[in-house]
Amino acid sequence: MERLQKVLAQAGVASRRKCEEMIAAGKVQVNDETVTELGFKVDPAVDSIKVNGRPIAKEQHVYILLNKPKGVITSATDPGGRKTVLDYLHGVKERVYPVGRLDYDTEGLLLLTNDGEWAYMLTHPKHHVPKTYHATVKGMPHGSVLEKLASGVKLKDGMTAPAEVDYVDVDPEKKSSVISITIHEGRNRQVRRMFEAVGYPLERLKRVRFGSITLDGLKRGKFRNLSKEEVTELRRLAEKSHNVQNTD
Ligand code: URA
Repeated sequence: MERLQKVLAQAGVASRRKCEEMIAAGKVQVNDETVTELGFKVDPAVDSIKVNGRPIAKEQHVYILLNKPKGVITSATDPGGRKTVLDYLHGVKERVYPVGRLDYDTEGLLLLTNDGEWAYMLTHPKHHVPKTYHATVKGMPHGSVLEKLASGVKLKDGMTAPAEVDYVDVDPEKKSSVISITIHEGRNRQVRRMFEAVGYPLERLKRVRFGSITLDGLKRGKFRNLSKEEVTELRRLAEKSHNVQNTD
C-alpha cells in the first residue's frame, strides 16, 4: 500500500506537493469515492484512481537485471537495516520487486520487475525455467559426487529433480573447485543444501544464468534494463517449460 499523493506523483499527474493540493481540493477519487485525506493508502495494482473523474496512467512495466553483490538482502525493506537490492537501483522510480530470491550470501543474477504476471510466470513451481549457478567448494569433488548432484539428492523436502552439473575450474594451488549446476526447481537454499548433502558445503555461490539471460558484461552491483526481446524470450521459455512438464 502506498500514500495516495505518492502514487499520483509516480503516475506523472503532478509534483507530490501539487498532488497533495489536488487531494485536499477534492479532485481525486479512489474507487469512485472522493478522498480528501492526505496520506490515504491505496494499492495502485487494485484500486481505481481518478483525477477529476479521469483514470491516472498505469505505471509502465520495467524489467531489470541486477548483478547482486554478496551481503545484500533480496527484499524491498529490511527491519534490521541491512542493505537491500533496491539500494542498487539508482534512478529507478517504479516500485519493482525481486523475481524469486537469492540468499543474503549469494551473489549474481537477479531479476526485478513491477509486472506481477511476468514475475509469477517465472517463479511458479509449475514452470521450470533453468537457473545456472557457479558453486565454489574446498578441494576437488570426485566425478561420482557430481553424478549424484545431477541425478538427485535426498533433502528433507524430498529428492531433487535431475540437474546438469560440470566442472568449471579446478585450482590445485588454492585447493578449491568451481562447479556449474543448472537446476529446474526453486526450493529454498536448494543449491547450498544439495552441496551440503554430498559433503561439500559451499564457500561461494553465484547465479550466472536465468533461462536465456546471463550476467555477461554486467559488473557486480550494476544493473541494466532488459530489452523487449529478452522479456518476451523469458516469457516464452516459462510457457514452454510449463507445457513440457504437462505432457510428461
Ligand atoms: N540456491 C541457494 O542455495 N541459494 C540461492 O541463493 C539460490 C539457490
